[in-house]
Amino acid sequence: MIKLFAANWKMHKTQAEARQTVEDLLRLSAVDLPVGREVLVIPPFTALSATAAGLAGAERYHLGAQNFYPADHGAFTGEVSPAMIRDAGASFALTGHSERRHVLGESDSFVGQKTSFGLAAGLKVILCVGEKIEEREASKLAEVLTRQISLGLADVPKNIAPETLSVAYEPVWAIGTGLVAGPAEILEAHALVRALLEDVFGSVAREMRILYGGSVKPDNASEIIALDNVDGVLVGGASLKADDFSRIVLA
Ligand code: PGA
Repeated sequence: MIKLFAANWKMHKTQAEARQTVEDLLRLSAVDLPVGREVLVIPPFTALSATAAGLAGAERYHLGAQNFYPADHGAFTGEVSPAMIRDAGASFALTGHSERRHVLGESDSFVGQKTSFGLAAGLKVILCVGEKIEEREASKLAEVLTRQISLGLADVPKNIAPETLSVAYEPVWAIGTGLVAGPAEILEAHALVRALLEDVFGSVAREMRILYGGSVKPDNASEIIALDNVDGVLVGGASLKADDFSRIVLA
């Protein structure tokens, strides 16, 4: 499976900063990017076009959006449709990121609506899941992942092409905290995600990517990416500097 190295820039970077960062990233990583890897840059909406321009023509470097609204168009002030995202040059999008769930209040079922709508609209979707620290401490990992995945995928057709759907396991307590899940925790959660995907899609689920996210850094990326059922990483803080993120994609 081709491993995906995704940079989630969250609410950071102007257009000029975004373009400079991807140009630096290409200069630092494009020639040496190992076979079997691809890169995804996920800037804020306002920098999608500038990032697309910076990535133009770079094979194996893709553009994604952090969010979208599940409708083609309409009276949804402040929202952006999948078609608008594609028009800006993006082919991927996130759904269910922990900050959308826990800061912006998105429910499991709304995340599910977005996931199926985005896929139907031709986006490659990365559904993000993960437990809060209190859920982990109460031994609710399996319960949380089962709920987020079953509601997140409730309306997704069973016959979708496996490369169009990925799941990112991001324990909430590891996002932006410097606390990274240990290998045993990542192995356990990713095996669980794989089994849940197989329950929904059958054996084709073995071809769907499962990414790990949460305080991935240049010095822990190679260990994480080598683990079973880890088909990529979703990187926040350490993706903002081209130097750090290039060390991750080359790790
Ligand atoms: P982090 O963020 O790498 O800064 O922990 C990951 C994410 O939120 O996707």
